[in-house]
Amino acid sequence: MRVLVTGGAGFIGTNFVRLTLQTRPDVAVTVLDALTYAGSRDNLADVQERLEFVHGDITDATLVDDLVRRCDVVVHFAAESHNDNSLRDPSPFVRTNLVGTFTILEAVRRHGVRLHHISTDEVYGDLALDDPAKFTPSTPYNPSSPYSSTKAGSDLLVRAWVRSFGVAATLSNCSNNYGPYQHIEKFIPRQITNVLSGIRPKLYGAGENVRDWIHVDDHNTAVWAVIERGRIGETYLIGADGERNNRDVLRTVLELMGRPADWYDQVTDRVGHDLRYAIDASLLRSELGWEPAYTDLRAGLTQTIAWYEQHRQWWQAAKDAVEARYAEAGQ
Ligand code: NAD
Ligand code: DAU
Repeated sequence: MRVLVTGGAGFIGTNFVRLTLQTRPDVAVTVLDALTYAGSRDNLADVQERLEFVHGDITDATLVDDLVRRCDVVVHFAAESHNDNSLRDPSPFVRTNLVGTFTILEAVRRHGVRLHHISTDEVYGDLALDDPAKFTPSTPYNPSSPYSSTKAGSDLLVRAWVRSFGVAATLSNCSNNYGPYQHIEKFIPRQITNVLSGIRPKLYGAGENVRDWIHVDDHNTAVWAVIERGRIGETYLIGADGERNNRDVLRTVLELMGRPADWYDQVTDRVGHDLRYAIDASLLRSELGWEPAYTDLRAGLTQTIAWYEQHRQWWQAAKDAVEARYAEAGQ
């Protein structure tokens, strides 16, 4: 079986490729990645001999057609993924997340190739802090940001191509990932690398917003469960019951890194900041038999902190520019 992994040089994609090569020796991997600021070939350096890497854009219909024609399954991770960037400039989000997904859909339609579309819980909008509800596959779509609205649009395109053209696709909507290789613009690696750089961590507002954290490896084992055992046309929500507010996560990071619990700055809040995400992953557990391996966020954070400590060369060069961009927004 040959798997085409779009966005395979980014955070989740790179971990997916590594997991695939480790656990499925019969699977051949092609990575298609545009190597934007968020992707790097270095992320795949240790496995580069075992895969085919294509530097290209998912909106390039000719290239996508050729690659899809030669594979059995497309796992579509490629996206513009950061909310704060989408608030500064939405245009690449529309192009990659909407036009890119359309381009992939047309190619899998032409060649009868199976697609698994990777998406986010943010398509459902947010929940109140005191609401006992969680997102389920039937929660109405209600995205808040340019990022989440373009992801929502991409999901709707996939659903329409399944129904209208019989495309063999599955979808998954996952909660907040953490782990190795996550870009340092994101909350957890930004704070870890701040501490490692002697910079005080930055908390948006009061830090009461809740995210449902999952280790990236658990996301990826769930993706494989859906590819291998999921029902065509079905949407699976992926989450590991990891709800925490941002202040608690930051305090845990500070404690694990030997800093006082109040060693952080409260900065300008994100515009339209979603309050709370929470995933009901019971379909994934009951129907596909999936269970997360990381059930202790503290242990997962300890491993993640160690990775950033040991991989300074991976993030150091980008740090000043990332912080300068945030500083312009008072964050
Ligand atoms: P990322 O930003 O780290 O990586 C995205 C990758 O896509 C990069 O390698 C980038 O170069 C590539 N890319 C961007 N535009 C491209 C284009 N036009 N053509 C080809 N490649 C392109 O993102 P991530 O955090 O790894 O997220 C991957 C997927 O998972 C996204 O679809 C995202 O919406 C989804 N997701 C992310 C999370 C999370 O917590 N990070 C949670 C749920 C779902
Ligand atoms: O829920 C899934 C989504 O999780 C994915 O679809 C996105 O691709 C991914 O980026 C993530 O989105 P968030 O916006 O939730 O993640 P981020 O890491 O940007 O922020 C997490 C929380 O931390 C959020 O409430 C904002 C807050 N935050 C973020 C940064 C960068 C801070 O308090 N300080 C910061 O410096």
